[in-house]
Amino acid sequence: MRILVISAQELFRQSTQAACLRYGESLVSVRLSESVGQGLELAEQFQAEVVFLDLTRSVEAGMLAIEQLAASRIQRLVIASIDKASIDLMTRAVRAGAREFIAQPVQDDDVHAVLRKARQVLVPALADPGVRGKIYVVFSSKGGVGKTTLACNLSVLLAQRSGVGRVAMVDANTQAPNVAPMLDLQPERWLRDAVEQYRRLDGDMLRQFMTPHESGALVLAHSSENPLGLDFEEDQLGKILLVAKGHFDHVIVDTFPVLSSLNLAVMDLADEILLVTEPVVPALRSARHNLQVLKQAGYGPERIQLVINRFSRFRGNVPIDLVSETLDWPVHAVLPYDMHATIAANNGQPVVTMFPESIVAKGIGELLDRLTGQSDVEPTPPMSLRDRLLRLLRGY
Ligand SMILES: Nc1ncnc2c1ncn2[C@@H]1O[C@H](COP(=O)(O)OP(=O)(O)OP(=O)(O)O)[C@@H](O)[C@H]1O
Ligand SMILES: [Mg+2]
Repeated sequence: MRILVISAQELFRQSTQAACLRYGESLVSVRLSESVGQGLELAEQFQAEVVFLDLTRSVEAGMLAIEQLAASRIQRLVIASIDKASIDLMTRAVRAGAREFIAQPVQDDDVHAVLRKARQVLVPALADPGVRGKIYVVFSSKGGVGKTTLACNLSVLLAQRSGVGRVAMVDANTQAPNVAPMLDLQPERWLRDAVEQYRRLDGDMLRQFMTPHESGALVLAHSSENPLGLDFEEDQLGKILLVAKGHFDHVIVDTFPVLSSLNLAVMDLADEILLVTEPVVPALRSARHNLQVLKQAGYGPERIQLVINRFSRFRGNVPIDLVSETLDWPVHAVLPYDMHATIAANNGQPVVTMFPESIVAKGIGELLDRLTGQSDVEPTPPMSLRDRLLRLLRGY
């Protein structure tokens, strides 16, 4: 029996997995996912027959996930759970397609009862794995490190590579949004519109709220002049991202620099988190704290890609190996300091199109290659001016 456990809580994942492994009546294979987004993808790839879905962190996104999981062509039993269950929530989960509800903390007996039922109702069935997009969240709890620059330029490059309408960019910087000006867009519809309509939102409606960029990317823009309503909750954004994931190949999300429950919920849906920092002490201290918190929440190096931005080599600057050592995390990419990034931003242009030959544009291209699996070359710090001069002088 193929079993998938989706939960942001390590305890839930571990105790459910352990209970499944202690089930002696049939052979089980268990996969774990710490996020709903990753879990939906894994459910299709792994053709999960039984899915335990913990709604504790994010009810709305979880309900939508139950619907998607239960509607799959794969014959499947979805079991919901939440730390504080109520009749209302249980009814909604069942209406969405859950077949059972188990209490927390998870008990072996409950899990075994579910697995016994699954054995009775499931007949072996195979179907094509579904195809879904990937969510990349660009995050740092330190302001001004280059999140929006990276998010915009990645979106533009991805759109150029994948074609029109296949890349979505969501400005989830709820407090100081900057994507529209950075891409010189004049949106007429906003994130607020999607939030207001989130219960009815589907792919077609989402596209109506997005503004096309000339690269082919579609942008769900936000502006502080169009504030999100008072009833705005993280689940609404979660649903928007899941709808985007179901309709685009790539979804890039820009964020506000704070380690909030909103950002944690957004990161929980991410397939990849790009944690951006700079090789200067305050930014590194902040990155270190982010990594500690995210690690405790169960995120590992396969999920969080550390990006060092605005790197330049001069005496007194922190070298990359020291950055990696200090943060105790592998460095995924190093983007050089390059004034072309600022000139492009001041012109409302992505640096990858305005200055495609610049060192920062090339660095972003390499980062994207690694992210999309087109290259497995280790990141190398950009060459310093001194190194470049030496190379020119020595002719190698
Ligand atoms: N590699 C780079 N080299 C030089 N300048 C850069 C580089 N990356 C970003 N910048 C510049 O740094 C400034 C801040 O970048 P950006 O707005 O992307 O940061 P942010 O992390 O999104 O900020 P906030 O936290 O305020 O949203 C911009 O002026 C941008 O042009
Ligand atoms: Mg920003």
